[in-house]
Parts: sequence; structure tokens; C-alpha cells
Amino acid sequence: MYENENPVFDNVDAYLEERLTPPDETLELTLKRQDEAGLPPMAVSPLQGAFLNILAKSIGAKRILELGTFAGYSTIWLARALPEGGKVITLELQDVNADLSQRNFDDTGLADLIEIRRGPAEKSLNILINDGVKPFDFIFLDADKIRYPTYLDQILMLSRPGTLIIADNVIRNGRILDDSGKDPSIRGVRTFLDMLKDHPQLHCTALQTMGCKGYDGFAMMYVR
Ligand code: DHB
Ligand code: MG
Repeated sequence: MYENENPVFDNVDAYLEERLTPPDETLELTLKRQDEAGLPPMAVSPLQGAFLNILAKSIGAKRILELGTFAGYSTIWLARALPEGGKVITLELQDVNADLSQRNFDDTGLADLIEIRRGPAEKSLNILINDGVKPFDFIFLDADKIRYPTYLDQILMLSRPGTLIIADNVIRNGRILDDSGKDPSIRGVRTFLDMLKDHPQLHCTALQTMGCKGYDGFAMMYVR
């Protein structure tokens, strides 16, 4: 899935991981089970997981929202950033993924910190909005790329000034430049990025990334 043309990108990630992200049974178990379940390696890399963890810790995020649990790998990195009394709410469409993630959280002692909400994220977000829940401090957007524009409108209703939002997969090996409209995921992310232009509520940047997950990137939005 992630075929880097140049092995240096994988090798540098391995070199850095060896120094910066020590072996971790919980995370390794999660990846092993993801693999055994025949799921593609869509989770963030260890270094990216640590990046999300450091960001969430830096802002003292107590309430974290994740869109797209998948096998729970990034969820674990986020849950570990929580202070006492903190919580991650993570949204997952696929029951098989939610089941696997729940098992990972149960078996690694993190279940009390994480609540999985199943079903389409759009629906779960509307429930959170209608319930008038407290705004989230940190939001990781990593669900269906086609719906990034809808999710943006919704997560802004669950934010406050100072909320930090990170969106995964905004570069997609440079395919983000494809303006043909043929790939619905690219179309979704492009519309999402268009919405950020002169956005009255958001201060934004994006970073291109290269490593064991290929060439991709994060968008970063700070709610003013
Ligand atoms: C895909 C989705 C992701 O969230 C990701 O990080 C990598 C790939 C995908 O849908 O292909
Ligand atoms: Mg992703």
C-alpha cells in the first residue's frame, strides 16, 4: 500500500523510531491484530502517533474527539495524552473495526478513557451537537475523506476558541493536485482545503510528510 520509491524514507523512519518511539507492547499488539484481521496499514506511523500525542499534551487536551477509529492505533496515542479525568470519544463506521478497537482498549487497560461511538460519523456528530456536549479541546479528523467538508462544519460546532484540529491524509502522494474531480476522496479533501481559505474562524497550516506511510500530510487548524 505504501510503496516508497526511495528506501531512504523507510530507513529514516526506522532510524528515528529506534531512538524516539521505544518498543511498546500495547501499540504493537494493536498493529499485529490489525494485520491479522486483514486490514490495510492505514494507521498513522509510530512517529506520527507520537506527534499527535505531543500536540494533545501540549495544549492540555482533556476532551479529545477522533473521527475514524479504525483499529484504535491513533486512539491509543491520543488516550495516553490525557490528563486525569480526560476522555477520548472516537467515531467508527465499521462494526468489525469498532469490535477490534474495543478489544484492544479492553486488553490494554485503556477502556475507561475511550468511548467508541459506532455508525456514520455524520450521525454521531449530530448527536453530540444536539446533546450540547462540552466542546472538545483536540480533534483528529481521519474518517471518510469524501465527507471531510461536512465533518468540518460539524466539528466546528463542537469546538471552542483554542480547539486544535488535525486532519490526516491531505496530500495523498501529491494526488491532492488532481483537479479532474475523478477521485471522490481527492475531491472531498480539496473541497475541505478550499473551505479553509480565508476561513473566519480558523488559523491554518498544512505539513507534507514523508516516511514509512509514504508521502502524505496533515492539515492543522486552530480555532480562533
Ligand atoms: C487511507 C485512509 C487513511 O486514513 C490513511 O491514513 C491512509 C489511507 C485510505 O482510505 O486509503
Ligand atoms: Mg489517515
